[in-house]
Amino acid sequence: MSSENSSLSLSIAFTDELSPGIEYPISQCVPDPLAKTIRLDSSTLPDRVQNETELGDLLTRPSPRLIETIKGFPKRLLILGAGGKMGPTLAVLAKRASVLAGADLEVVAASRFSDSRARQWLESREIRTCASDLLDRRSLESLPDSTHIIYLVGLKFGTTDNPALTWAANTLVPAHVAERFPKARIIALSTGNVYPFVPVESGGATEDHALTPVGEYPNAAVARERIFDYFSRENGTQIALIRLNYAVELRYGVLLDIARKVWAGQPVDLATGCFNCIWQGDANDLILRAFPLTSSPASSWNLTGPCLRVRDIALQFGEVLGRAPVFSGKESNTALLSNTEKLCSHLGPPSTPIDDIVRWTAHWVKSGGRCLDKPTHFEVRDGQY
Ligand SMILES: NC(=O)c1ccc[n+]([C@@H]2O[C@H](COP(=O)([O-])OP(=O)(O)OC[C@H]3O[C@@H](n4cnc5c(N)ncnc54)[C@H](OP(=O)(O)O)[C@@H]3O)[C@@H](O)[C@H]2O)c1
Repeated sequence: MSSENSSLSLSIAFTDELSPGIEYPISQCVPDPLAKTIRLDSSTLPDRVQNETELGDLLTRPSPRLIETIKGFPKRLLILGAGGKMGPTLAVLAKRASVLAGADLEVVAASRFSDSRARQWLESREIRTCASDLLDRRSLESLPDSTHIIYLVGLKFGTTDNPALTWAANTLVPAHVAERFPKARIIALSTGNVYPFVPVESGGATEDHALTPVGEYPNAAVARERIFDYFSRENGTQIALIRLNYAVELRYGVLLDIARKVWAGQPVDLATGCFNCIWQGDANDLILRAFPLTSSPASSWNLTGPCLRVRDIALQFGEVLGRAPVFSGKESNTALLSNTEKLCSHLGPPSTPIDDIVRWTAHWVKSGGRCLDKPTHFEVRDGQY
């Protein structure tokens, strides 16, 4: 573990029971300065994660470095596209860090909130929400001003059926946002999909690699970056483009996809034989600490964890689950891989070891933990999603 380890004193109220009849996407921990004080020791990761309450706690546990960083934030943080897989825990992580820092940060989460449970979950944790379709400029106008923005809007899956919507979501929305907030610092989430596949031995694409991927979604993601950079150059907007590869938690992600196949006795496809992934809590912690990386013209940063072999991970799951994995296909010598040296040299590496995530995921699958049923399709090699 890193030097970030220390015992944290945190004021958080915990509710152990989920409301009957409602499936909550994440835990029921409510930041509340008046609630009982509990001790969180960030150096002690659990052996197992038993339920979504524990999972929500783990995903929103701020690092000491984040707590320090959040002291320098302005009064308001605006998160755009907050209704998806990462936004809810990102918002609550920021709130918990601010409670611990005594910083009284207002966290505003804007999204269409197609899933109304995400909105309820956020509001019950003192996050202000704004239902907003960011394709609509008027809707964007009504959002509160903010000098610190995290941009999570994206559209990937369904591109093959409706490529026009993918291009609109990934190009028009960035343009609207950049025009609406020219003076802000913006951390804009991008993806490692902007790179073509690279040789497995290369250690992954670095940020100066040519952005020449295959497929409509990856190219729309390149366009998302280019539009942010255009407005950054035009208006002097300070922007950091964060090229993320595979955030994982226990209800979605590439590790879960592999674990479920091993558990079900289904073949694990080896064609894309390697990948990078990062614990979602670490990804969100690093994203929140990335405001000093914003610049004009926009800068780009790879964010992910170590390079892993699909075969090794499947075998590791096989051991913990007591089932020998079945494989199909043959490892290709190229894969979607990123090199994160640049980001790690500024912000430090992610802190959650892959072995712990594998163990938690295996237990989650074996014990029938709820999954989001949003497969990553990490096997895809033709860019069609
Ligand atoms: N999760 C990963 O492993 C991963 C990997 C690589 C890159 N990324 C990037 O990181 C970002 C966040 O990831 P994520 O997994 O949280 O993505 P996600 O689950 O797709 O969430 C993005 C959210 O943006 C919102 N959105 C889309 N169009 C919108 C619009 N017109 N107006 C307002 N909100 C809109 C949607 O929520 P509503 O329906 O509620 O509006 C959607 O759930 C994405 O941009 C993605 O490209 C993520």
